[in-house]
Amino acid sequence: MKGIILAGGLGSRLYPLTYATNKHLLPVYDKPMIYYPIQTLVNAGIKEILIIVSGPHSGHFIPVLKNGKEFGVEHIEFAYQEKPDGGIADALAIARNFAEGDSITVILGDNTTDADISKPVKNFKEGASIFLKRVPNPNKYGVPRFDEKDPTKIVEILEKPKDPPSDFAVTGVYIYDKNVFEIIKTCKPSWRGELEITDVNNAYLKLGKLTWAELNGYWLDAGSFNTLYLANKYWTEKKNPSIKNISIE
Ligand code: DAU
Repeated sequence: MKGIILAGGLGSRLYPLTYATNKHLLPVYDKPMIYYPIQTLVNAGIKEILIIVSGPHSGHFIPVLKNGKEFGVEHIEFAYQEKPDGGIADALAIARNFAEGDSITVILGDNTTDADISKPVKNFKEGASIFLKRVPNPNKYGVPRFDEKDPTKIVEILEKPKDPPSDFAVTGVYIYDKNVFEIIKTCKPSWRGELEITDVNNAYLKLGKLTWAELNGYWLDAGSFNTLYLANKYWTEKKNPSIKNISIE
């Protein structure tokens, strides 16, 4: 299994921070944000990783990540998304040659988690697998609607619904079989002009090939000011528990 990290986009939700560099290189405690999804893939045994970048600061990744050796990555590759805000599925389409017909694990570059995904990665056979997490504000995410009679069955995923049908977010961790690239070709830009990953997941759902599990661990999309702060707080306290006792007076 190969891994793909999507680190394109303009990061406009974080202007003015992202005037200076790419969102995924901003600090989350003692590391640039993108270190976290790389570590999640490496911990799951994935050592061949493609990083998709875009926008004015694309060149900033190479001096930070180099050849990926310090993470235990055996092969790191970069690809450039021409339309910086073409959407997550538009970015993923670029990974076709890299995937070489294999299944892929995809993580959004602003998602930080300490969940261990090695089992679902190892056991994956076909279709698509998504990971859900209960959140207080599902309207900011992709949200599954479950069957009224069978609460384990997703019937639809809605992207940032005003009136969320459940309190689960679809996290930015996905496993796809080789058919994902043909499915992306059938997607049309959404109202915000993007090729949406939610449409890709709904296409797998219609084929009866979407499975889901709850993500087992901490998870946060650090792509807004508030969640960037919360991700910094979580990782600072996790790696440095004594910091809670420090007071500056
Ligand atoms: O974090 C989970 C959420 O991520 C999901 O619940 C949503 O279903 C999914 O659409 C996505 O929502 P966001 O609004 O948070 O996506 P955002 O535009 O912030 O993009 C997430 C990452 O994807 C970003 O860190 C970089 C990458 N990306 C994004 C776009 C729009 C690209 O590589 N290229 C792009 O064109």
